[in-house]
Amino acid sequence: MKGKKRLLTGLQASGTLHIGNYFGALKPFVDTYEDYESMLMVADYHALTSIKDASLLRSNIFDVVKDYLAVGIDPKKAIIFKQSDVLEHTELSWIFNCLVTVPFLMQAHAYKDKIAKGLEANAGLFTYPMLMAADILLYDTDVVPVGEDQRQHVEYAREAAMKFNNAFGDTFSAPKELILEGVGTVPGTDGLKMAKSRPQYVIPLFGSKDEITKAVMSIVTDSSADRPEHVYAIHKLFKTEEELEVLYKEKMGNYKDLKEALIEDIDSYMSPIRERRIHITDDEVKKVLEDGGKRAREIAQKKMEDVRKKIGVTIN
Ligand code: TYM
Repeated sequence: MKGKKRLLTGLQASGTLHIGNYFGALKPFVDTYEDYESMLMVADYHALTSIKDASLLRSNIFDVVKDYLAVGIDPKKAIIFKQSDVLEHTELSWIFNCLVTVPFLMQAHAYKDKIAKGLEANAGLFTYPMLMAADILLYDTDVVPVGEDQRQHVEYAREAAMKFNNAFGDTFSAPKELILEGVGTVPGTDGLKMAKSRPQYVIPLFGSKDEITKAVMSIVTDSSADRPEHVYAIHKLFKTEEELEVLYKEKMGNYKDLKEALIEDIDSYMSPIRERRIHITDDEVKKVLEDGGKRAREIAQKKMEDVRKKIGVTIN
């Protein structure tokens, strides 16, 4: 019997993390991970759907792990690992691909959005949800902290679990997404969802004060409104609504002062984690991944032995 419940999430090694990734997925993980058996993954094979440059992917992997450590995740208390170190992820995703239909995968919003933006429709992008289902289900995950844009992908994981269980007997439990109110969709500086694919509108998680200033100053404001909504929407990630009420009343109509206050609040929130990150070395990252990979493989291999028997590929 399992003791604590399992918490698992992952971020793609596809570029610099922004405050949307932090508030939507990382912070909810940081805030709760000690109450669970926790796993934090670097989704490097998912990143391969968009990155075809070995040195870039490699350096992104180092960056994401440094980000994980800098935001305060203790590798002794959570298994930090990368997807490609546990081959069972791609193995299980193949099995799920054989259970779901093409029309089902065609309904994935993330896939449809990317195609609409003109991104290359490689087959990996199309089957992306089944690799994510494998990431989640291999470890009998109970809770998956993610942003709103991943809600459907967790639903897809539940569907994959159900399809497998119906075909081969009870094997996988149904995971649940953890999407916190108010942070599920952090807006970019243009008011639309902040996304790595639109870097000109992001506030980088580890940005220098200059980068934060540049991003905040570019936030689109509507001069007809009482308060600049796009500024406020980001500001409330860093301050309580009560604190902001006083400030926004006092500075009503003075957008420049409000933006300056936001810059200070982001900077003082981020500077301790930015400072911590500077001291994390590549060697430390390698050690964390080596140890995390070993621990993750132990769990995944055991699960896959059962899966292989159930589907009939084990002949002894
Ligand atoms: P990725 O790297 O695209 O996004 C990482 C996390 O950041 C969240 N996020 C946001 N949250 C709030 N506001 C935003 N503007 C915003 N932008 C991004 C995403 O919802 C996500 O939680 N497919 C996953 C990676 C993954 C995964 C997994 C997650 C692969 N396997 C297994 C959980 C479990 C993704 O979107 O990564």
